[in-house]
Amino acid sequence: MFAELTCFEPSCRTHYPVTEVIYNCRRCGGLLETTYPDWRLNPEQVKSTWRARRICNTPLDQSGVWRYREIIPFLDSLEAVVSLREGNTPLLSGPHAARYGGLDALVFKHQGFNPTGSFKDNGMTCGVAQARRLGMRRVACVSTGNTSASMAAYASAAGLEPLIFIPHGNISYGKLAQALEYGARTFQVEANFDQILALVRTLAERLGIYLLNSINPFRIEGQKTIIVEMLDQRDWNPPDWIVLPGGNLGNTSAFGKALRELSGLGFIKKMPKLAVIQAVGAAPFYELFHRAERERLTPVAHPETLATAIKIGDPVSWPKALKEVGESGGVVERVSEQEIADAKAIIGQCGIGCEPASAATLAGIRKLTAAGVIRPDDDVVAVLTGNVLKDPDYIYRYHTGQLEAPGGERIRPTYGNQPTVVANDAEKIASLL
Ligand code: F0G
Repeated sequence: MFAELTCFEPSCRTHYPVTEVIYNCRRCGGLLETTYPDWRLNPEQVKSTWRARRICNTPLDQSGVWRYREIIPFLDSLEAVVSLREGNTPLLSGPHAARYGGLDALVFKHQGFNPTGSFKDNGMTCGVAQARRLGMRRVACVSTGNTSASMAAYASAAGLEPLIFIPHGNISYGKLAQALEYGARTFQVEANFDQILALVRTLAERLGIYLLNSINPFRIEGQKTIIVEMLDQRDWNPPDWIVLPGGNLGNTSAFGKALRELSGLGFIKKMPKLAVIQAVGAAPFYELFHRAERERLTPVAHPETLATAIKIGDPVSWPKALKEVGESGGVVERVSEQEIADAKAIIGQCGIGCEPASAATLAGIRKLTAAGVIRPDDDVVAVLTGNVLKDPDYIYRYHTGQLEAPGGERIRPTYGNQPTVVANDAEKIASLL
């Protein structure tokens, strides 16, 4: 299959070889996407191949990314691939969360079941495969935590050297701990995500390091398979809505690209709408989407949210995300710290659990149903992007009434669950019960 990199800007569309180390168009500075000219697949045949691979024992077929390799055909040879059996994440129904969100039913696609606990693994296996194909030895990313955890694991597994740059004091310990444990050289920079991204881009070019942020189009290819796997699990019956949190907007871009390609190739007849949810303190995409003039995103200079995964003020992939949300007929919503915290506790009460950024989905659904944008009987899938254990400190503080929003105001533990300290005394404990 022939693949190339193409400038995303409609007025430019310059092409580059897929083997070039390049992240932005040299002519206009636009984002790049992987394209496959003259791409034809037989949907029915490919769907049954994908289903049959589920019971195969080969590593590539066991991967919930590479099982769907026909939809991400950017490699000439699959020898470059390193898989930790990413993807394979479940669809879980949450009736309690559905009621909270004003819906008759709600299903979560839980990406926290990935090997490093977030959706980043779907993309990282592809980004690292491309790094190996290009012969790169060192890979780098700036991250709010999950990308770095994922990159550290995949780069180490592939024998590459991972270099990680994170905002000092602004990522959860669970994520930082993963990067250290997986053997990444880790730099805690005294700056925010957006500032560090600019820094790392300069360093990557100067030192010949391969950049694995979501600006990397091959990571986007991998994240497309979240949608492919979801549709496979639903026997190719698309939902009305797919709801996801928005930070740097790579995932929004990937989901939109997947849906467009699947529709173009004849795999699906109906297009789900994308609903992207941001935190109020880090909502530049919300602001852009609700403006009459959408020429340029205005960055938020000092983004603030306890959902540190989406604490991003200048999302790189906004042009792609804007097109994808628009073409899907979707919406962008924003939710407060209190709304995120309460929604997260409700997802926990379902026995499912997730990290704070992921809970923005349910908080957003609640707002969108109240506004009549999503109807109670709509078929909705919310994507939980990260595992509940990514940020235990947040959980403990919420349930014990100690969680404070960035501005200093206390978050109410509306659904708090305080642990009880007791003496080692059967009578006393029995009386409490
Ligand atoms: N949810 C979680 C758990 C994330 O880690 C991220 C992004 C997002 C949502 C937002 O996804 O950027 O594609 O819009 N985390 C990145 C990181 C930025 O560095 O780990 P997005």
